[in-house]
Amino acid sequence: MEFQSKIKTIEWIDDYSKLIDQTVLPYEFKHVNIKTGDEMYTAIKDMIVRGAPAIGIAGAHGVALYALELQKQNLSREEFISKMIEKADYMATSRPTAVNLMWACKKQKELILNSKSDIAGIVKELIENGIKLENEDIEINKKMGDYGAEVVPKGATILTHCNAGALATVAYGTALGVIRSAYAKDNTIQVFADETRPRQQGARLTTFELKTDGIPVTLITDGMCSYFMSKGMIDMVVVGADRIASNGDTANKIGTYTVAIAAKYHNVPFYIAAPLSTIDRNIKSGKEIPIEERSHEEVSHINGKIICAEGINFINPGFDVTPNELITGIITEKGILRAPFEESIKKAFEES
Ligand code: MRU
Repeated sequence: MEFQSKIKTIEWIDDYSKLIDQTVLPYEFKHVNIKTGDEMYTAIKDMIVRGAPAIGIAGAHGVALYALELQKQNLSREEFISKMIEKADYMATSRPTAVNLMWACKKQKELILNSKSDIAGIVKELIENGIKLENEDIEINKKMGDYGAEVVPKGATILTHCNAGALATVAYGTALGVIRSAYAKDNTIQVFADETRPRQQGARLTTFELKTDGIPVTLITDGMCSYFMSKGMIDMVVVGADRIASNGDTANKIGTYTVAIAAKYHNVPFYIAAPLSTIDRNIKSGKEIPIEERSHEEVSHINGKIICAEGINFINPGFDVTPNELITGIITEKGILRAPFEESIKKAFEES
């Protein structure tokens, strides 16, 4: 039986992109219709849409939206192409860490440069490519789900961090996709979700989407993971990724590294679930991954209210890097990659 998720995070409709507004969840469930490239840039930057694969597709849609706008400007084909390359490069800068964004904008850029069509034809091709990438994302997640479900022990309690679910992709999810596929086979599994300070994606988004799909979930705060591991209450960890280096070092939401260290200490298998588009083969190790520094208000405030003494210092990196030696396996659409990761990653790309 295939598990059906009720959530579709991003969808191209006629001449706009429809997004679930993730800034207001779980209090409100509403959509926003994004009609221009600049609106998409802001939606990614302000995290109306977030999660590595979702912002990749959003970037591809955003480039198509710029094309629709530029088509109205009576440009020559040459001018249109040169402006579109600038727009695609600009869209790729809307957030710095998740490489899926750069990957998808590059796909649109290659299409523009290789197309033999006139302006109207290029616009149509960019829209079609955005829709194709959108559909492929769901298929890839389901493949990862199938591979990942094989390593989920019967009746397992699975810890996850942040939100790597339907809301972080087009639908189904990477880490939560593994959980959805495992749940379809064994409905005695359950999830422990880390709150994920500072933006609380685990509390706000992961619990929302698992509850929506009827998968049992328990919310814990970030500092509790070692406690539950020491009690033998966690059977495995599965998280998503924003960028994976050629050696398997993995950037994911801040706090993931702490979970990985705790898992190693307690002999709990620690898996990453991510499509090959999250692997950046241009970088050798995690040291080269750019880490987003986010607003200090995310640390100093909760729900608009200050939670600390005024006038103190803040620092707010959005991601950390888990070294490859802490990772049991990387679940991809090509199967589960294991150490030595340089070799298994290289092989996965050679086969694709
Ligand atoms: O800052 P966010 O919410 O975009 O960070 C998201 C994460 O860190 C996810 O775990 C990651 O993108 C994987 S999503 C399948």
